[in-house]
Amino acid sequence: MDAKHYLVVGGSHGIGRGLVDRLAESGSAVTVVSRAAENSDAHPAVSHLSCDVTETALQVSQLPDRLDGFAYCPGSINLGPIRQLNRDKMVSDYQLNVVSAVECLQAALPALKASGNGAALFFSTVAVAQGMTMHASVSAVKGALEGLTRSLAAELSPKVRVNCIAPGLTQTPLSEKFLSSEQKQSAMAEKHPLKRVGQVEDIASMAAFLLGSEASWVTGQVVRVDGGMSAVRS
Ligand SMILES: NC(=O)c1ccc[n+]([C@@H]2O[C@H](COP(=O)([O-])OP(=O)(O)OC[C@H]3O[C@@H](n4cnc5c(N)ncnc54)[C@H](OP(=O)(O)O)[C@@H]3O)[C@@H](O)[C@H]2O)c1
Repeated sequence: MDAKHYLVVGGSHGIGRGLVDRLAESGSAVTVVSRAAENSDAHPAVSHLSCDVTETALQVSQLPDRLDGFAYCPGSINLGPIRQLNRDKMVSDYQLNVVSAVECLQAALPALKASGNGAALFFSTVAVAQGMTMHASVSAVKGALEGLTRSLAAELSPKVRVNCIAPGLTQTPLSEKFLSSEQKQSAMAEKHPLKRVGQVEDIASMAAFLLGSEASWVTGQVVRVDGGMSAVRS
């Protein structure tokens, strides 16, 4: 049987990179899309397309003919009070988190359908299930992504499964500003029932599971990988 092939938009660092490494190490080919130039330390099974997906939509012709899975990882954590929200900030968050996610999936869809059992994965946030102060814009756009996940799971079933992970605070370049000192790290860890913030592996392992054949009966789900934050009071 041919090796599986995955498309990871946003696989150059953070959670996406963790997912790419996992997939490549398990013998799959991976196409990564990000704004960066090709990563010199990437696994030999990884190829790279440089593209800012908010500026230029991916084209079907740039992608493999057959894809077993697709993950869309770009996202934002822009926090602030409602008085500081404006149209530009909200539109920019919606573009990156939702519009470009849809456009990338549209480009990948013929190849996902061609595989007969494709899987798509989006990333939400713990701030959708639990109201958090200052999170208005990010929780609104990620909430849209959760609705999109369930709608597309219905529309694309049974050929393509569609799921979403809602991570809690996870140590990546995106969250650096919230974890930039030991004090911040221990204060954030203390807020979680499991008393630590997330690491890339915590999320990447769930992502690989949801994209793989072991999750072949799972679709339309938002899986909350957040140290217990959204469900447990400790
Ligand atoms: N980290 C957290 O605490 C946390 C918490 C809740 C939810 N999440 C969500 O989880 C997902 C992954 O988060 P992360 O922390 O791994 O993010 P990250 O460290 O910022 O990584 C994002 C990835 O997307 C790429 N990217 C960003 N903008 C892009 C664009 N316009 N065009 C193409 N590629 C782009 C980045 O590569 P380049 O810079 O090379 O383009 C990078 O590979 C996001 O959707 C985020 O909202 C994260």
